[in-house]
Amino acid sequence: MKILGISAHYHDSAAALVIDGVPVCAVQEERLSRSKGDSAFPLLAIESCLGHGGLEPEELDAVVFYERPMLKFDRILTCALRAFPRSWRAFPKAMKNSLGEKVWMRGIISSHLGVPGRKVLFTEHHQSHAAAAFLTAPTRRAAILTADGVGEWATLAIGRGERHAGGATTIDIIREIRFPHSLGMLYSTFTAYLGFAVNEGEYKVMGLASYGRPSMADEVRRLIRRTPDGAFTLDLDYFEFHTTAERSYSSRFVELFGPPRNPYEPIDLETAEGRRFADCAASVQRVLEDTLVDMARSLRQETGLPDLCLGGGVALNCVTNARILTESGFERVFVPPAPGDAGCALGCALYADRIHFGNPDREVPDHPFWGPAVNGRELAHVAREDGQPMDEFEDGFLIDQTADDLAAGLVVGWMDGAMEFGPRALGHRSILAAPHSAGMRDRLNRDIKYREEFRPFAPVVPIETAGRYFDLPPGGARLARFMSGVFPVKPEWRSRLAAVTHVDGTARVQTLERDMAPRLYALLEAYGQRSGMPVLLNTSFNVAGEPLVNRAVEGYSTFRRCGMDVLVAGQTRVRKCASQQARLQEEARCSRNAEGSSAG
Ligand SMILES: [Fe+2]
Repeated sequence: MKILGISAHYHDSAAALVIDGVPVCAVQEERLSRSKGDSAFPLLAIESCLGHGGLEPEELDAVVFYERPMLKFDRILTCALRAFPRSWRAFPKAMKNSLGEKVWMRGIISSHLGVPGRKVLFTEHHQSHAAAAFLTAPTRRAAILTADGVGEWATLAIGRGERHAGGATTIDIIREIRFPHSLGMLYSTFTAYLGFAVNEGEYKVMGLASYGRPSMADEVRRLIRRTPDGAFTLDLDYFEFHTTAERSYSSRFVELFGPPRNPYEPIDLETAEGRRFADCAASVQRVLEDTLVDMARSLRQETGLPDLCLGGGVALNCVTNARILTESGFERVFVPPAPGDAGCALGCALYADRIHFGNPDREVPDHPFWGPAVNGRELAHVAREDGQPMDEFEDGFLIDQTADDLAAGLVVGWMDGAMEFGPRALGHRSILAAPHSAGMRDRLNRDIKYREEFRPFAPVVPIETAGRYFDLPPGGARLARFMSGVFPVKPEWRSRLAAVTHVDGTARVQTLERDMAPRLYALLEAYGQRSGMPVLLNTSFNVAGEPLVNRAVEGYSTFRRCGMDVLVAGQTRVRKCASQQARLQEEARCSRNAEGSSAG
């Protein structure tokens, strides 16, 4: 059976193709359209999936959309009417947005793909999240917790899943919390208040939190009240997201926390104002963690199950995930590589396969590499056309050469095989560097990633040696498989892992098994032979504001525009010569100076 899953029209559109119960391709539209966070109907992603499966649309047995548009419309309409007359400004816009494209998905899908309307199915948003989390995890019975901003009505769902080998699958949502009461919206409100882009900047709030103290946690708890049944409600006097699209927090919120941050002003942690913002981030982070840990603990007691699958955008909060693992009583916590809405494309296709059609259970390969494959020959071609020196090596030599480059302090763009599905670079579209010095971190932020100082980088380490450098609790290595947890760096290694150790002594470590990315694993071993530590800094291969690179030509374009020294794609290696590198750095310095003088 051939099933296409689609998520679209909110943020991070994506498509996924499942054939005979197993994914064959899953890709986010932004990676192909090159527009970050692209929310358009994912025609390019669909084309890529069908091309990968060698299918024409008419060969599909079903096309599944990741939520129920009419239920979502019902929520938007109900909230607008409840908030009237305050919502009168936002009302026409909300209706136009909803009625324009989003409600009539069956017809849109049918006309885009030329498939009959009867083949178009819908799942509920949190069913898609739950399926993406549970059906891709190597577990047969697990409790499930999904949390995000909002789907149709649900903002958090609790349930359990069961898979019988070669037989039936069940995913039962036991209960849910409904809009406007939402942990995701609480966090996003602080994201907006702290001057970051909602749905994109949440991880910046998490990073900023470790520079602050949760001194305003009691104030945040005034915004979210726990209820006797273990759920929570938001005090809506502090919010406006449910009545207007213009601002998510109310004037009462500002009275409580002070003036919001101007997004154009940098955060200066040396000033009282900068520290207030860091404390705000730390406070909302603490309350989010406490709430989810408590709910997970109750779920553990209620189900008696040792495994927990976490889904929804909130599961991208790695600090919270690690606390859930260590404090809730669950022995294993699984977070898929794409827990957010993009992952719902895969989730809804798997849900339809197992639950709607009742197809037998199948093991889903335990890796994130479902995107298009990189072509090293394409890199060789563009480098040659551009007059750039390049070489093509066999694997053993290429890995030794790259390990030498890294040991010499060079920054390497590393493209290998199929692209990651989900927001994290897990070794196929990564920028790699030596993890030892703070100077390397600063260089990457300044010359390559062009981003805020407080943003930490992540390490990657072979799973067998991870415990030597990082304090991983039981189950920690599993959570670190897709970089979903933050764990302490052992104190004795912090100074030698300065580029990947966050200010609070932690790291968002990726533990790598050889089978998942054999070439990166070999590179870690080769680097370990040279440096004595098989640990590398691994950050996503993109510059600020751009999506992860997909094709070799995009990797090459990024390589040429930033201070990266070496680019490897497949068997091809390109090295920037010293004079080019110096010129590039000079150009970057001039443009920064020009920006500085025009701003001043
Ligand atoms: Fe979601």
